[in-house]
Amino acid sequence: MSTLIRGGTVVNADQTFRADVYCEDGVIKAVGPDLDAPAGARIVDAGGAYVMPGGIDPHTHMELPFMGTIASEDFFTGTAAGLAGGNTLIIDFVIPNPQQSLLEAYQSWRQKAGKAAGDYSFHVAVTWWSDQVEQEMGVLTRDHGVNSFKHFMAYKNAIMVEDDVLMKSFRRCLELGAVPTVHAENGEVVYLMQKALLEAGITGPEGHSLSRPAEVEGEAANRAIAIAGLVGSPVYIVHVSCKESLDAIARARAAGQRVFGEVLAQHLVVDDSVYRSGDWLQAAGHVMSPPFRPKHHQEALWAGLMNGTAQTTATDHCCFCADQKAMGRDDFTKIPNGTAGIEDRMAVLWSEGVRKGRLTPQEFVAVTSANCAQIFNIYPRRGRIAVGSDAALVVWDPNATRTISAKTSHQNVDFNVFEGLEVTGTCAVTVSNGKVVWENGQLDVEQGAGNYIPRPTFPVVYDAVKLRNELARPSPVAREPSAHVTP
Ligand code: URP
Ligand code: ZN
Ligand code: ZN
Repeated sequence: MSTLIRGGTVVNADQTFRADVYCEDGVIKAVGPDLDAPAGARIVDAGGAYVMPGGIDPHTHMELPFMGTIASEDFFTGTAAGLAGGNTLIIDFVIPNPQQSLLEAYQSWRQKAGKAAGDYSFHVAVTWWSDQVEQEMGVLTRDHGVNSFKHFMAYKNAIMVEDDVLMKSFRRCLELGAVPTVHAENGEVVYLMQKALLEAGITGPEGHSLSRPAEVEGEAANRAIAIAGLVGSPVYIVHVSCKESLDAIARARAAGQRVFGEVLAQHLVVDDSVYRSGDWLQAAGHVMSPPFRPKHHQEALWAGLMNGTAQTTATDHCCFCADQKAMGRDDFTKIPNGTAGIEDRMAVLWSEGVRKGRLTPQEFVAVTSANCAQIFNIYPRRGRIAVGSDAALVVWDPNATRTISAKTSHQNVDFNVFEGLEVTGTCAVTVSNGKVVWENGQLDVEQGAGNYIPRPTFPVVYDAVKLRNELARPSPVAREPSAHVTP
């Protein structure tokens, strides 16, 4: 199967130029002016449009069993909606139950993802610790293409881990050349605040944001960064929603620590007034963690993306319909946490980012795909239009408009936090595995057409085991009395 994208302007994170792009057998075979189309090639007219690497959403939860229910979007509907929005790869999360084998959980997620229409990869969560977990992390990196492990600092009595697990797991990641990632919220404090609010009679969705103020996130981000700093590992903070966390990341980066930040499209444009609408279902539809924040945090998030403190954008796509949200009708702590976004992230980032002068088109490519591909080690296979890269790309119409609505969305959920937002700049064509899967507002997708994308670990350039032993030994100062100390 071959496809020629003709007459567009190619945008990579570092370069913009006029070129045709020729794809064959799922790979980009030629990039240059006036390419000839072999007989039988499908021609896509990209005149007046940008040709960019397909979006990568590094944070999704398809079909996630969570808070007593299962996220309504499955791997087929979710990746299809993602393709309609210009995403050609998701990195979803394998989340083992505490005490469950990581490998067993990984295999069950691989099975669920078999029906995906678009490509997918997996972070694996560390929700408990044992010799078995440590050993299975090694197997996952060596044999299964997993190079990132997730840690929840919130969700006490469920999947939260304590600082000792963070430290052991970060150390193991360092040894393996993998990237530790964290959901940064202080779960103990959230738990106490939830109890206090319920006791005070606050049972509605407004209690959700009151129990998770920005300080709770900032504290956890600082702690995760401090632990990573002690261990010497990198750390990637998912869904950074507030200035406190961004400041922590900026400080660490300025001090030379390898810390990455991910921002959700939702947090960039929606604020916490949604919890005070007076309409229970509206407010519950916005219940996610971290919650929506007072408006001033939005400019901090945009600034973080613009100045490089945050490198990636995601959606944390985790869908629950009205009947599922209703599980928390009398108790906000029982409202399943999560919102949708995969179909809209790219358009929101273009419309609110590029159109409003916050991002250049190249920076858009950086924060929607190239940076993610680099951080998770699949660049330039992904995140770049170049010969040899995967034929996973979009034709982007910078002037087309659409109004976001749950009713017209391909997402399998009845609610959209961007409802009514008019965006300028939309995905005209999506090419996945060399095939046109979205054009003229129509999806042409197949169950199981998506591929699993393994991600190799990073080379370990120093002896992490030696470093670990050194850290475990008392320092020379503690072992030998200092010459300045008189007996
Ligand atoms: O509210 C959220 N974010 N739900 C999904 C689980 C998580 O914390 O990422
Ligand atoms: Zn999270
Ligand atoms: Zn998440």
